[in-house]
Amino acid sequence: MSHDLFEAAKAAMAKSHSPYSSFPVGAALRTADGRVFAGANVEIASFPEGWCAETTALGHYIMAGGGEISEIAVVAARMDKVTPCGGCRQRLAEFTRPSTKVHLCDANGVVETVTMGEMLPYGFDGETLR
Ligand code: THU
Repeated sequence: MSHDLFEAAKAAMAKSHSPYSSFPVGAALRTADGRVFAGANVEIASFPEGWCAETTALGHYIMAGGGEISEIAVVAARMDKVTPCGGCRQRLAEFTRPSTKVHLCDANGVVETVTMGEMLPYGFDGETLR
């Protein structure tokens, strides 16, 4: 992975609104045609109403027209290797393939790269809903 995706995730993390957990997270995804969309977690005083960094990034991606996602980076300054939560795995799976790479980062860069399929085995498949 080129370092710019990590840098985009880290820059997004700096914009996190996380006054309740003090746990800023940043996520960035790159499309196959080279566009990068990033986002941070947003916390709300009514705790369940907040949302994750990956979800913010996906919102930007959708509003820009979507497209094939080639790779994703996630970073949390306070964790050696942040991994997307279960809900975000399912959201990311909606727009990726099992082979799509996910880079798990610490504050300095990529610590480990996994695939969506490794992260969400036996995920719910919306194909039957179509
Ligand atoms: N968080 C994310 O943004 N992404 C994840 O995949 C894990 C958790 C956020 C949600 C909440 O604002 C904070 O981290 C602590 O759970």
